Amino acid sequence: MGEGRVQWNSNFGFLMAMIGSAVGLGNIWRFPYILYTHGLGTFMIPYIVAILVLGFSFLLIEYTVGYKFKTSFIKVFEAINRKLKPFAWFVCLIIFFIVSYYTVIVGWDLIYMILSFFKGWGSQPDNFLIHNVLHSSEGFSGIFTFVPFVFLSSLIVWILIWFISHKGVNDGISKFSQYAVPILFVIVVLIVIFSLTLKGSSMGYTLMFTPEWSELANLDIWLAAFGQIIFSLSLGMAIVLTYASYLPDNANLVKNAVIVLCSNSGFEVFNAIGVFSILGFMAFTTGIPLGNLITDGTGLAFVVYPQVFNVMGPIAYIIGPLFFACIFIAGLTSAIALLEPVASSINEAFKIPRKKAVSIIAVVGFLITIIFTTGAGSAILSIFDMFLNNFALLFAIIIECITFGWLYKIDDLMEVLNSKSSFKIGKWWKYVIYVLPVILAILWINGLINIVQYSDMMTFTVDGVLLLVLIIVPFVISFIENKRNYG
Ligand code: PFF
Repeated sequence: MGEGRVQWNSNFGFLMAMIGSAVGLGNIWRFPYILYTHGLGTFMIPYIVAILVLGFSFLLIEYTVGYKFKTSFIKVFEAINRKLKPFAWFVCLIIFFIVSYYTVIVGWDLIYMILSFFKGWGSQPDNFLIHNVLHSSEGFSGIFTFVPFVFLSSLIVWILIWFISHKGVNDGISKFSQYAVPILFVIVVLIVIFSLTLKGSSMGYTLMFTPEWSELANLDIWLAAFGQIIFSLSLGMAIVLTYASYLPDNANLVKNAVIVLCSNSGFEVFNAIGVFSILGFMAFTTGIPLGNLITDGTGLAFVVYPQVFNVMGPIAYIIGPLFFACIFIAGLTSAIALLEPVASSINEAFKIPRKKAVSIIAVVGFLITIIFTTGAGSAILSIFDMFLNNFALLFAIIIECITFGWLYKIDDLMEVLNSKSSFKIGKWWKYVIYVLPVILAILWINGLINIVQYSDMMTFTVDGVLLLVLIIVPFVISFIENKRNYG
């Protein structure tokens, strides 16, 4: 445990930072699409099972390990088994790559937030996104095309993250989250209430809750539910562990975990009601079948929503900016959280002052981000996203589960957990931790099959390079660190 290590100075600040880390793009634009394509109302059953089996159990592991060791992700691995340190750097590198493209998406959103004040996307938002915003090219050919607005917006996002993060855990992350997260929730409540008043909204939200019982036997919807929980709660990314490592001794772990879990899922389900209502309104107004309107991620936020705002009338000048502000705040708090495990690991492993560590990460991170701000950027970004989330991160979670749950004394963790909680966790937790890696391995194999199935030459090339970097760099960093610290 680090001498004089920083601690959260308020539990509210910690909770807001935790909720801010979880609530992100995954909740706003990923969840409605996953729900729509995986059994609609029926999806809620595997979703709740995934929350209980994976979300709650794994969250508790990360919480307890962070709380018990009170040190950075890298130092936790050092304490459990020094040989596993390259693996810990492997996870840090995954998160580092994720934040380097996540910032670009938040940057796109920043552009749309400005455009939304005057519906600057014109009458054809799909063309506008591809040609005017992203300057997308086929394959690698656009890698040398400089896209100034995306570059600039991503730079602004990085500067904001750097600024908040380098101020420290309390003066930066906690202070910012205490304002940002409640504002985010208020905006979402306003948007959802407004959406429910729109003509045709009931067509949308009724669909969301319509069950397709035959789908329950489909393995795909179970895998999708577990995948959504991992993404949405940012599991395995060492964020929870790192944030929990700043908790004071008297923190109530189980209560905090339950609050974060309920807020995160409550947010995405509630927000989805708004999304479906708005799409119901669009279908009602234009006659386009609702199914044709539901898309994933960028398509939903930057094409379908602008189309909706185009037919909405003057109120869109208020709802539009609010909607993009919502994505912006959610994205920013998640990006700040993604930076923290890397920052604290570099800070503690290399004994580099926090401010300096954050600055180094921000500069190197932005240099990687530049790749995503070229004409080939959005294509490379999708490949990174698929590879890191469906392959690398899942692998990391399996190893974390085995390290914390099997290699480390789970009984010790359970004791720590229960000593700090009025609600006691029973033996079931231990058994769940033992079976989790098996469930995750099934998910991982499924992710691997997807990557291989949908890959072209460009994807294989990018995946190959990424894999090499993810294998080699962690060993190099571990080697340098060991040389520096132990001679
Ligand atoms: N949980 C956040 C979200 O839902 O967007 C943060 C996050 C998840 C960031 C997954 C990155 C990621 F790959």
